[in-house]
Amino acid sequence: MKKILVDNIIQGIHSGIVVLNHQGMVVYANNPAMKILGLEEQQLAGRRWSDLFLHMEENDDFNQVIIDVIVGEKLNLHREVSYVSPARQFFRLSVTTSFLREKKTVAGIIVQLDDITELWDLRRREQLVNAERQRLSLEMVNSMKKISLSVAHVILNPVASIGGFVRLMLKRIDEENPLRQYLEPIEECSGRLENIVKSFKEYADINAVNCKDTRLSTLIEGVRPKIEEIARTLGKEIRCHIDIGDHVTAYIDPALFMMALDEIIMNSIESIEDGPGDIDITVNKTMFGIIVEIRDTGRGIDNRHIQCAFDPFFTTKTSNNGMGLFKVKKIITEHLGTITIEHREVVGTRVTIHLPLGDLAI
Ligand SMILES: Nc1ncnc2c1ncn2[C@@H]1O[C@H](COP(=O)(O)OP(=O)(O)OP(=O)(O)O)[C@@H](O)[C@H]1O
Ligand SMILES: [Mg+2]
Repeated sequence: MKKILVDNIIQGIHSGIVVLNHQGMVVYANNPAMKILGLEEQQLAGRRWSDLFLHMEENDDFNQVIIDVIVGEKLNLHREVSYVSPARQFFRLSVTTSFLREKKTVAGIIVQLDDITELWDLRRREQLVNAERQRLSLEMVNSMKKISLSVAHVILNPVASIGGFVRLMLKRIDEENPLRQYLEPIEECSGRLENIVKSFKEYADINAVNCKDTRLSTLIEGVRPKIEEIARTLGKEIRCHIDIGDHVTAYIDPALFMMALDEIIMNSIESIEDGPGDIDITVNKTMFGIIVEIRDTGRGIDNRHIQCAFDPFFTTKTSNNGMGLFKVKKIITEHLGTITIEHREVVGTRVTIHLPLGDLAI
């Protein structure tokens, strides 16, 4: 009864189960295992693993798992490998091996095969889409760089002349002169144009050329005194909380990354209008990369503005240029990362930066 029960359970599960004896001979294989391996019971039973599979070079990784258990006596191995069946069907398998024990002696090896081809395919397609998105982003950033340089080059001289002459004229006429009402707006507008040209030049100059392993806790702690200083100047009460593991490092250009953080933090400070506010910065390292989050308790970002927040000249403020997040996006793209902005559930805004692990950044 017990044997029938175990047999039924093992045949009914999705995983393929193959049992090998000490000589590497197949002594048992359930139906899912035969389906995955593309071999019938009579082709498997009593045959050595080496005779069945070792001649198939494309299955080297697959065979290595078994060799590691039989020869290397490595316990409980778990690996993801590719397998091509004799009918040339491709599988991506999750292979787990363990020893079959009878009392205290090892009676054989259990190989568990899980078909993860669909999941693997999805993951691969997602990676391809992400790579393409990244490529388009870089392309967009590069064309923007060219446009920025041309605009800055063409506008710089006329704007500097207008601003220079108007300032000169304002110096030469006295305070009561009625011409001031015309000249002052010209001075203000040319000042704004000069700022725009400056932003374009800064944008074109952004290049992550000095990337190095950087301890994020040391770098990001540097924003605390800046926040305190700006808040004091603006007469705002802002508390800053930073939560970063001591040893989290990222391969970044520290000066550029700081420039991006400064812009994001400035937006947070500007969004905290009345009463005290908080700015929280957290960094987490996951197997997919490094996540830097900047959260504030300011007025929050309107859903309609999220799409255009990273566009040049998009601003909801009266005296800003709307170039901050445009530059930030370029800096993060230069590091092969991504950035998003969203309204937080209760109050304020969250900016999330994803950076790749290792020295993938350029
Ligand atoms: N933390 C935030 N809270 C609320 N809104 C934000 C926040 N960060 C950005 N925004 C919105 O996104 C817009 C674009 O931001 P961006 O930094 O590019 O420009 P700006 O701050 O308006 O101008 P500049 O940065 O050139 O001084 C802002 O005008 C604002 O509407
Ligand atoms: Mg800004």
